[in-house]
Amino acid sequence: MTAHELREKYIAFFKSKGHAQISGASLIPENDPTVLFTTAGMHPLVPYLLGEPHPAGTRLTDHQKCIRTGDIEAVGDPSHLTFFEMLGNWSLGDYFKQEAISMSYEFLTSPQWLGISPEKLSVTVFAGDDDAPRDEESASYWRDLGIPDERIYFLPKDDNWWGPAGQTGPCGPDTEMFMDTGKESCGPDCRPGCHCGKYFEVWNDVFMQYNKNRDGVFEKLSRTCVDTGMGIERTITILQNKKSVYETELFADVIAKICALSGTGYGNDGLKDVSIRIISDHVRTATFILGDQRGVTPSNVGQGYILRRLIRRAIRHGRKLGIEGMFLAEPAKIIIDMYAGVYPELKDNRDKVLSELAKEEEKFLKTLQKGEAEFEKLLPNLMRNPRKVIPGRVAFRLYDTYGFPVEITEELASEHGFSVDKEGFDEAFKKHQEASKLGAEKTFKGGLADNSDLTTRLHTATHLLHKALRLVLGEHVQQKGSNITPERLRFDFSHDDKMTDEQIQKVEDIVNEQIRKAQPVTMEVMTLDEAKAAGALAFFGEKYEEKVKVYTVGDYSKEVCGGPHVDNTSELGRFKIQKEQSSSAGVRRIRAVLIAE
Ligand code: ALA
Repeated sequence: MTAHELREKYIAFFKSKGHAQISGASLIPENDPTVLFTTAGMHPLVPYLLGEPHPAGTRLTDHQKCIRTGDIEAVGDPSHLTFFEMLGNWSLGDYFKQEAISMSYEFLTSPQWLGISPEKLSVTVFAGDDDAPRDEESASYWRDLGIPDERIYFLPKDDNWWGPAGQTGPCGPDTEMFMDTGKESCGPDCRPGCHCGKYFEVWNDVFMQYNKNRDGVFEKLSRTCVDTGMGIERTITILQNKKSVYETELFADVIAKICALSGTGYGNDGLKDVSIRIISDHVRTATFILGDQRGVTPSNVGQGYILRRLIRRAIRHGRKLGIEGMFLAEPAKIIIDMYAGVYPELKDNRDKVLSELAKEEEKFLKTLQKGEAEFEKLLPNLMRNPRKVIPGRVAFRLYDTYGFPVEITEELASEHGFSVDKEGFDEAFKKHQEASKLGAEKTFKGGLADNSDLTTRLHTATHLLHKALRLVLGEHVQQKGSNITPERLRFDFSHDDKMTDEQIQKVEDIVNEQIRKAQPVTMEVMTLDEAKAAGALAFFGEKYEEKVKVYTVGDYSKEVCGGPHVDNTSELGRFKIQKEQSSSAGVRRIRAVLIAE
């Protein structure tokens, strides 16, 4: 069964069960600062799941474009995708567990639909905890349909609970359906949800009974709803008995094109396969973002930044395969043609997709070429260095003069058996910042905008640091003072002992991970009591107005603060702690900087 057939069957099945087909939404969420992209079919339906009447009725079905970029760097293995299509059916206060489960079972097993043998199915249901009871009810419906107890697993919230990607909103226990691939189990604990490859999740039925509010409280919804999701790509992979989604018809032509462009083959399980998968995935996602009904173009913030990273990473891997010039338009055209019938916006935006890809490629290629040429020139000199380390100032010059990313310098360096002195690079970077500040002060107002930009970024970094310190050292850590200049942040906090190198590294890693995750930073106004109830950190040495501003960084931190802050952590660059020392009795002081990537 092809992806196209699966999509059509799913919609036809749910139409036959009284569902209205609605059109999927844009990839760019409307009025939702909690996520950058639409991550699930339910996402655009949140208001209706919370009680708003839907014009199409109480039974809905659709196919939705989704993007999950949680960890772009993980893509490249045989199963991760950053873009996928989700099939879904919804009950808005209409049917609930029994009917949802029985429809899922019928669609999966009936020979008229997917015809999966019932013996291959296992299911999981919610085991219960303080927030909600054990879902015996769902288990009993599965039993009634003939799934034996040995194939019904009760699992905790981590596995069998679903809420939207933002922190708040409709949520509830779910029941997930898995297909056994027939592979040997990896051990006695192997079960659905295990990542060894024996069990493949195909569908998730979520029973939305709660709304998680800003205080983290699960309020019972007056009207219960069903939200389901079936990923097209992974489901056809298993239906077609393929080891990887990259072996399905969805990727065949794109991969063939990349192989032709690079003169490589696919399927040897080596590093070249990884690069080919990365290019295929990233160019597909970039095509859907550029071709979306709500336009986004590459930039340094928010969705545009993710888009830029996807395109640039694809280009880098193209070069690893030996592709020299611009090439992304070729696979993009294949993707547009393949999906234009289902997502006509791709066709409407075809020119834009191709020209934006080309523009970004051109920009990045120029940067790379200049930097590489410069690197080659430096090589004979570098070769004389017995330690085989490229000095930080050299890496910095490549960055400063040619915009050459330090990670590429590292890549090139390693090809010649060299490493890069990263600390030296950071040092050179810092000196440069100080020098430009001196320069800026001399020029009339010239540095002002830049400086305020820098302090805003450091300000947001301070929030990330505060939370990371609490995670690593403990909840006793409280802010005792903060001072920010355009070059660095200084942060004083309660803690008795000198931090170990390992703790410092951990804190840095947590902050950098939050930066990499491109977390949105949002602000709400509320009373101080409300802020505390919402779990916001406050600097208690401070006097507050009646209403305070609370800044929230994605799902990571919440803090009472006057601002200003950046809109997205992706704007920060790389975070580095330069010094940790005593400030006064029981108070430590950290000095840290942000390094442009
Ligand atoms: N919204 C649920 C999911 O994404 C169905 O798994």
